[in-house]
Amino acid sequence: MKVIHVVGARPNFMKAAPVLAALKTRQNVGQTLIHTGQHYDANMSDIFFQQLGMPIPDVNLEVGSGTHATQTADIMTRLEPVVTRIKPDIVLVYGDVNSTVAAALVCAKLRVRVGHVEAGLRSFDRSMPEEINRLVTDQLADLLFTPSEDGDQNLQKEGVVLEKIHRVGNVMIDSLVQLLPLAKKCSTDGFPERYALVTLHRPSNVDDSASLKGILEALLEINRRIAVVFPVHPRTRQRIAELGVPLDNLHLSEPLPYVEFLALQSRATAVLTDSGGIQEETTYLGVPCLTLRNNTERPVTVTMGTNILVGQDRQKLISELTKILDGHAKRGQAPPLWDGRAGNRIADVVCG
Ligand code: UD1
Repeated sequence: MKVIHVVGARPNFMKAAPVLAALKTRQNVGQTLIHTGQHYDANMSDIFFQQLGMPIPDVNLEVGSGTHATQTADIMTRLEPVVTRIKPDIVLVYGDVNSTVAAALVCAKLRVRVGHVEAGLRSFDRSMPEEINRLVTDQLADLLFTPSEDGDQNLQKEGVVLEKIHRVGNVMIDSLVQLLPLAKKCSTDGFPERYALVTLHRPSNVDDSASLKGILEALLEINRRIAVVFPVHPRTRQRIAELGVPLDNLHLSEPLPYVEFLALQSRATAVLTDSGGIQEETTYLGVPCLTLRNNTERPVTVTMGTNILVGQDRQKLISELTKILDGHAKRGQAPPLWDGRAGNRIADVVCG
């Protein structure tokens, strides 16, 4: 059996690694790893492959950055001949980035089976590019691997037949479980003892200067009470430079490798983020998470986990953070099937 994996952006890598590893143990499975090149900086891509023990991609489409249409179209144009040449039995796509939807479109038109890992998540907010990517990918996929029950329900409401849906749990947690022991040994010397860890990259927060300015001002206020550690995504770095707000007192850094970031996350007093995956990782780790968004496609992190949505409400952000600093953080638990074995369950279905 020939399996192609298509990955492109940082959050894809920790989802694909466990599936690649699980399928490697199965008989008669040949795997091809294709990197679209959506993320291309060494600290957004290469270091993740190394730390996650992923093979070097067999093919790199080297699409780079662009508008949504350009990036998606470039991936499609460059991927089509590769899939046509390899003639896979199935193509696995991950998450909700432009690489995911581009690959699903190419394969659906070539009548190649598509498996979507992390299917069924919905923010119900179509102003998010990722929501469009999720909706389209799930309509095209033949196998839909969901991380939680809400995913199954969303898909059924959209008319996806039950036979296509496989609740396998959260594959990203597989990578976390595997690398947490290494992260526990990882030094965070040079970082403050007690800190709030921040990540920001959503267009709705960083591309709008008023929103970004408001968030940066809130971070400067928070930094007077607890040190703010902020590894800055390239997109956000560009926007901050354009705004010119001085952030000298914050602990800014380049984007961090997986293990170092996991170490910082697991030791943080609180995490402030607009990422999807970090809402899940903090829930698993039991670390309080304040999400700077009005909605989440991962509601289980709010209902069962440690996540609280604070939107763009600065007062709410400060008051929820104050509760955490005062020792009244929200407690939670890991949802069912977030157990480090999702990759194996996916391999069972793919090979079944
Ligand atoms: C993408 C995903 C988002 C995911 C995020 C994780 C889509 C629509 N969005 O957003 O869901 O949460 O990745 O990071 O697919 N850049 C670099 N170096 C890189 C990559 C990007 O400098 O290696 C810069 C470029 O200027 C680029 C900008 O960052 O224009 C944005 O990158 P892009 O891949 O378009 O989207 P992300 O914001 O990273």
